[in-house]
Amino acid sequence: MSSAPDLQGKHIVLGLSGGVACYKAAELTRELVRAGASVQVVMTESACRFITPVTMQALSNHPVYTDQWDDRVANNMAHINLSRQADAILIAPASADFIAKLVQGRADDLLSLMCLARPAERVPLLVAPAMNREMWAHPATQRNVAQLRADGALVLGPDAGDQACGETGDGRMLEAETLRDELIAFFQPKLLRGKRVLITAGPTFEAIDPVRGITNLSSGKMGFAIARAAQEAGAEVTLIAGPVHLPTPLHVRRIDVQSALQMADAVLPAAGESDIFVATAAVADWRPASFNDHKIKKDGQKQVPSFELTENPDILAAVARLPQAGRPWCVGFAAESHDLVRHAREKLVRKGVPLIVGNLGPATFGRDDNALVLVDAQGETDLPHGSKISLARQLVREIAERMAAG
Ligand code: C5P
Repeated sequence: MSSAPDLQGKHIVLGLSGGVACYKAAELTRELVRAGASVQVVMTESACRFITPVTMQALSNHPVYTDQWDDRVANNMAHINLSRQADAILIAPASADFIAKLVQGRADDLLSLMCLARPAERVPLLVAPAMNREMWAHPATQRNVAQLRADGALVLGPDAGDQACGETGDGRMLEAETLRDELIAFFQPKLLRGKRVLITAGPTFEAIDPVRGITNLSSGKMGFAIARAAQEAGAEVTLIAGPVHLPTPLHVRRIDVQSALQMADAVLPAAGESDIFVATAAVADWRPASFNDHKIKKDGQKQVPSFELTENPDILAAVARLPQAGRPWCVGFAAESHDLVRHAREKLVRKGVPLIVGNLGPATFGRDDNALVLVDAQGETDLPHGSKISLARQLVREIAERMAAG
């Protein structure tokens, strides 16, 4: 696959303050390095009580800084050098005490000194709180977090759930993979900021009886990747998903449905309030005309049951026919086995949409990679073979450009 790692070329300064969640910072370092970032770790004295600088050095492949008086640094200004080199500073875990220090602008150790000394207009500060639920809920912490946001920091989480102290509630640090994905999203250009995007994904399942049904081959991966890419681009995303086993992308509102009729019922009211509609779902063309309440039994006579089928509504075409004032900018998909461009172009006309995205169905079903061809009134644009998420990000760019062009 040709796609570059998501954090390729990014230099992240990862700051650890004291807390049990320091163990997750080890995994986070691995995730960031795997995603292509270079990671420079800076730790407070308390953080060193929870995890050793040796571990963090081994995982980041860089010496760890813990002291503002570190004489390894030629100019003895680690706080300046470290903060000038960073594309972003991520504090994970950020203890209640460290957040309070950030808010007050205190600078009595290397990490807080470095945060205060950072050029705020070009080095963003991301903060992942980690603390006991009472500490998180305390008005002092809530006040500090509100001030931290007002000062321009991005606060990631915290999560809710079991805590090291044995209590349950808000205050857990987000998991390493989630923080990695938050950071990846943070760096994506905000091409769809303020836009509402509605997406269908996955197959539909048309029940014959309580245990059987008609469905089709679709993993939902392309649609879920588009939902993630649109959210990363700053959109508010609603994802209407057929039966698939995929995790919901971060900050995406997901509505699960089974059948084409349920999908249509979920899409149509939401479409009028959306700016963009992307129909990636492989909607079953037909459904059984009637549903059997009981499982159809083999009768022992080798009698094969037959079904009458009825056509499902075309959800994309219905949205494309909405009155112009409430109609989102529509994108359809064409999964074909041959003559991709010809079929895609036919669909462009038949569905009445400005853009159809073609892909070769059998070559992509269930996989993490794909190749797309964009077909519109102007011509064809190839998006060559790559991961579904990188193609989804390119598609988001193509949509944003076309919408901006009117
Ligand atoms: O009509 P056909 O299935 O070839 O068109 C595919 C495109 O139309 C896809 O974007 C798919 O999500 C959408 N579609 C739909 N409702 C249907 C059938 C297809 O939204 N009943």
